[in-house]
Amino acid sequence: MFRPINNHSIQIITIISLICSPVSLPLVKAQITHVILLDELDISKITQGTDRPRSTGDKANLSINGKKFLKGIHTRTESRLYFELDGKVDEFSAMVGIDDRNDANRTQQSSKESSAAEFFIIADGKVLWQSGVMKFGDDPKKVKITLAGVKNLLLRVTGGPGNTHVDWVDAGFSYSGQCPKTVWSPEELAVDRSNIQLSLPRINGAMVIGIRPNTPFYYPVAATGGRPMTFMADGLPEGLVLDEVTGIINGTPTQVGEYKVKLTVKNNFGKISRDLKILVGDKLALTPPMGFLSWNVIEGSISATVMREIADAFVNNGFRDVGYQYIIMDDCWEGGRDRYGIIFPDSLKFPHGLKSVGDYLHEKGLKMGIYSSPGSKTCAGYTGSLDHEDLDVKTWTSWGIDYLKYDYCSVPRDRARELYILMGDLLEKSGRSILYSISDGDISAKWGKLSKANLWRTAGDIRDQWFLGNGNGIIECFDRQQPKFTEFQHPGAWNDPDMLLVGIYGKGASANDLDAKGCNDTEYRSQMSLWALLSAPLLISADVRNISRNALEILTNPEVIEVDQDPAGRLPVRIGSAADMEIWVKDMEDGSKTIGFLNKAKDKRKMSIKWKDIGLQGKQLVRDLWLRKDIGIIKDSYSVTVFPNEVSLIRVYKKQ
Ligand code: GLA
Repeated sequence: MFRPINNHSIQIITIISLICSPVSLPLVKAQITHVILLDELDISKITQGTDRPRSTGDKANLSINGKKFLKGIHTRTESRLYFELDGKVDEFSAMVGIDDRNDANRTQQSSKESSAAEFFIIADGKVLWQSGVMKFGDDPKKVKITLAGVKNLLLRVTGGPGNTHVDWVDAGFSYSGQCPKTVWSPEELAVDRSNIQLSLPRINGAMVIGIRPNTPFYYPVAATGGRPMTFMADGLPEGLVLDEVTGIINGTPTQVGEYKVKLTVKNNFGKISRDLKILVGDKLALTPPMGFLSWNVIEGSISATVMREIADAFVNNGFRDVGYQYIIMDDCWEGGRDRYGIIFPDSLKFPHGLKSVGDYLHEKGLKMGIYSSPGSKTCAGYTGSLDHEDLDVKTWTSWGIDYLKYDYCSVPRDRARELYILMGDLLEKSGRSILYSISDGDISAKWGKLSKANLWRTAGDIRDQWFLGNGNGIIECFDRQQPKFTEFQHPGAWNDPDMLLVGIYGKGASANDLDAKGCNDTEYRSQMSLWALLSAPLLISADVRNISRNALEILTNPEVIEVDQDPAGRLPVRIGSAADMEIWVKDMEDGSKTIGFLNKAKDKRKMSIKWKDIGLQGKQLVRDLWLRKDIGIIKDSYSVTVFPNEVSLIRVYKKQ
């Protein structure tokens, strides 16, 4: 039986634990229980916030609320260490706590006082033990748990503002079979989602919103972190109210003006505040829209059920918590027109009409989008809006539409410009704040301003492949942005290089025609990085109801989304001209810079940037936005190795 380890037993245990090393003790047939300390295992496989894990003998200096420990490991939130076990590990025991060295963190609001974390032991996808929230200055907590029969084990520490110092001390296993083995985090280990984000709140998504006066407003305060949460908002314009439990703000603002609202979100770990600017006036889409667009994967299978399920997935899988809000039906929803010319949805797909779908979405703080064409037919041959524009806007408005994708099909060229302008005028007077998205390619960008559109396509239909050779691969849609469309973009008016493909993996409908084979996670991560650099609309097209964990992590990385949603909405500028290696720099509103290192070559490349080439001098704090950790304070220049089709994405802050 394994006893909690104290400092006196260390020598004995260390000797016994040699069994784990290649040098074995003589074999004994009877069942023998061995003991191995956590710090004697390979802990380099820990994934954690900043820094690297340390064990005894590696300057770990373990100390929890003044108590010193000689054995154990030091890691930083968010921390995960996975093990493969053979089912014959009897027990794990440890003391856990917040290490005394917690200090101010540079990039996020953090202090000794706000250092908090929660420890979890997760076995075969089930939480076996959790410490409860522990704060700086708390005494260490003891855990002793039976692991017989367990095959996959995860030691996880969530919480804090990203980088809290935490310790597993006097920790070890007793086992009668194979020595526990640490492994790299498996891509798809099913862990109950409710345990994924137990940490201090983080407020995400758009921080500036435009709305027309006297039109309905829906805004779920987008926040990640441990639930339950309570929400507060100071300074809301008249007519808007916040539900403190759901965090949804709605109502109808009446007075034109600029309102600075202070949002506060509180949970068991602490509270965070952030400003939200609400502009009640004539501007919409002050940051690029974020949501789901049904075409690439759902295509003709769009229905009320699909719309509702997507809305549920937005809530349950955490998309809403990082700012995704619009759920947009693309083509194929249309049923036809009645004898009065009023458009109706396909009654098999939408047996109760579209208003009930809109209500369902709005109740969750989400918004509904629709699709049509200025021609008599849409691109897939369904009913278009030609000569029914006024009537259609009235009908859509009665259903609660918040977004229109107006696609360029079956339109006489000589009438297109006038028809796009007509729709822009009608939407403006519709009594709702409806975002206006227009297509197609070169033409629409030039008409964007005239027709008061909020976004326009800059490329053909994107396909699920990095490079296709016909202009439709991810990198080709990115390339088409520059420099042709630069002059058109500003907050409220966005270039749209088409949907995000992240998570489709070759299983889409139209996304995978033209022989598009799908992408790997590196390429999907690159699409997300490039779209964020461009301030492109983030319109997911993978089936969010059934999404891989990796794709979910890519799509919901709040720090990358923050780059996309930056209120300044600037386009990135290319630095240098080395073939196949592109460095893109985006100036952020707060004075920091986001830099993307894009490797278009077939082999890995070292890419470098000198601070002076982008107007910086001396020391800069570099944060890797995919690793979500500070790389360090770096002087004069920065280099990184980038794999083919990869974008390394960093944000550089002036060192205080
Ligand atoms: C065009 C658009 C696509 C999609 C289809 C629907 O091809 O570019 O994004 O909307 O029409 O028919």
